[in-house]
Amino acid sequence: KVYRASTTAPVNIAVVKYWGKRDAKLNLPTNSSLSVTLSQADLRTLTTASCSASFPASEGDSLLLNGEPSDISGARTQACLRELRSRRAALEQADPSLPKLSTYPLRLVSENNFPTAAGLASSAAGFAALVRAIANLYELPTSPSELSLIARQGSGSACRSLFGGYVAWRMGDKADGTDSMADQVAEASHWPDMRALILVVSAAKKGVSSSSGMQQTVATSGLFRERIATVVPGNMAIMEKAIAEKDFEKFAEVTMRDSNSFHATCADTYPPIFYMNDVSRAAIRAVEAINEKAGRTVAAYTFDAGPNAVIYYQEKDTEAVVGTFYHVLQGADIGGWKSADIKGLKPTISLD
Ligand code: DP6
Repeated sequence: KVYRASTTAPVNIAVVKYWGKRDAKLNLPTNSSLSVTLSQADLRTLTTASCSASFPASEGDSLLLNGEPSDISGARTQACLRELRSRRAALEQADPSLPKLSTYPLRLVSENNFPTAAGLASSAAGFAALVRAIANLYELPTSPSELSLIARQGSGSACRSLFGGYVAWRMGDKADGTDSMADQVAEASHWPDMRALILVVSAAKKGVSSSSGMQQTVATSGLFRERIATVVPGNMAIMEKAIAEKDFEKFAEVTMRDSNSFHATCADTYPPIFYMNDVSRAAIRAVEAINEKAGRTVAAYTFDAGPNAVIYYQEKDTEAVVGTFYHVLQGADIGGWKSADIKGLKPTISLD
């Protein structure tokens, strides 16, 4: 008999960024963060986990990622597998009638519905889907927040992909990380007008991985200390209020300021790290021009550890934002762009 479970997990894009680890082994952050989960119709990982006593033990666990055999011997993946197995083993011990799934080799098959080459972070959706697929296979009675504790050990941002809508990752202060988990700040339906436009500036793989980049920032940037002590706590508080009140002006200001603050600490890292390029900066100027023309804030940019821009806007401002971007960026060297509707409906625009 082969036991099998499938699940999907969405991509999330932070508006208050996670940058810095206080414990690299447990993946514990130096600050809390907050993200918006994008529509699974546009961006998601689908993972199927299976196990069986008939799978040869010599085969061990395996992962097929987008059709290619993928290495799962890394410490992060192993931490997730170990944690899930031990929870299953505890269930089996409590109830000896349960099949001993924890002792069988695992076969994992994972696929993204967006090209990995699009240069979008896929580790968040990837680890969230992996952890939930195995938890489902093992029939673990775990809540999304408990699963976020496990996914966090795979990739920090993955803990936020276990929820839809607006999601906070509370940094916690315990040394063992048991209070460093995600919770939902608001459902996507709370702010049904919210949209995200993704400008794929470059599909090239990023130069410095986020893991190593944030370690270098923690070790060398003075500005970073200011960011975690005052800037981020302030941004978290204003952002939660802005979401509760659906105050786009405030939401947008904090989103842009926090992205700028994060990239400033990267520039203050020694040697400096640059994730944005000339096209990224052109996108920032385009957002400023759009907001100026509208006479109010209708668009907000944010950049992760790479040059691609994510633009948040409201549906009612689609023409002002997407229409203008189309014209401004037509001549620019941009690979493609896509708008993900976070409500789970059809994308408002898809031009790739
Ligand atoms: C800039 O979650 O990829 O996207 O925990 O080392 O896997 P690891 O890092 P990762 O870092 C994401 C950094 C970011 C900001 C964010 O998503 O909050």
